[in-house]
Amino acid sequence: MGPGWASATDAYVMEGPAYARIMVTERIDYTGVGLDEASLAPTPYLQARGWVADAEARARDVGDLPEPTAMAVATVDADLVPDVRVVLMRFFDERGPGFVSSTTATKAAQIAAHDGIAAVMTWVPLFRAIRFRGHAEPVAAGELAAYWESRPWGARISAWASAQSQPVASRAALESAYATYAARWPERGIRGEVPVPDDWAGWRIRCDSVEFWAGRVDRLHDRLRFVRAGVGTLDDAGAWRVERLQP
Ligand SMILES: Cc1cc2nc3c(=O)[nH]c(=O)nc-3n(C[C@H](O)[C@H](O)[C@H](O)COP(=O)(O)O)c2cc1C
Repeated sequence: MGPGWASATDAYVMEGPAYARIMVTERIDYTGVGLDEASLAPTPYLQARGWVADAEARARDVGDLPEPTAMAVATVDADLVPDVRVVLMRFFDERGPGFVSSTTATKAAQIAAHDGIAAVMTWVPLFRAIRFRGHAEPVAAGELAAYWESRPWGARISAWASAQSQPVASRAALESAYATYAARWPERGIRGEVPVPDDWAGWRIRCDSVEFWAGRVDRLHDRLRFVRAGVGTLDDAGAWRVERLQP
């Protein structure tokens, strides 16, 4: 350790480009339980289900892990420049993880042009991450409608008020749109009163690879990746082979 590296505070008060440009935060060792081939579930679906359940339990029981189903989803634009944003995983079955959004969203246009897609779920308190890569496919209207029913009234009104990713003149304009739709469908606690918006949309990731990363001490992490070896769902063991990657 050189001068100025003892703590984050020291690094930030140092003058000069060499120190100013390096992010130095307090270094923590990753003391996760790891992941080995013997304990790996037979399919990527079961393994991911287990880890998501662990994260949800952690959120509930320890409380240091909000939004355990959050995932960063990457797509590419027309120039093949990557784009990435956080969404919530709203669907997960043997077909792959899925999320809801809007046909007006930037991601919708990007997926329409290039359906290659990747996502990562990260749970730092558990020293775990899952990476999904594959191709986006639309979630069926019936599934989207079923999810819509679980959405609280205010969030439904906001979905109507927002053409996601389109510019808006001001916060006031957005709130005015919200008020318009809130007046059209006042909250009366009756299911189905706020209809599904026309631009309501969702996609799921048809995966070609799913990697499980488990952080371990001294940065000697475990990485086990399921790679597609044949036709089948995330829950068909015969459709996948497993490889260990160096950390
Ligand atoms: C924790 C969190 C959860 C989010 N959940 C969603 C979501 O489920 N669906 C969604 O469309 N955007 C969600 N967003 C907003 C997106 O990150 C993003 O701003 C939005 O989808 C527009 O992205 P786009 O312009 O690339 O299409 C969430 C953001 C955060 C930080």
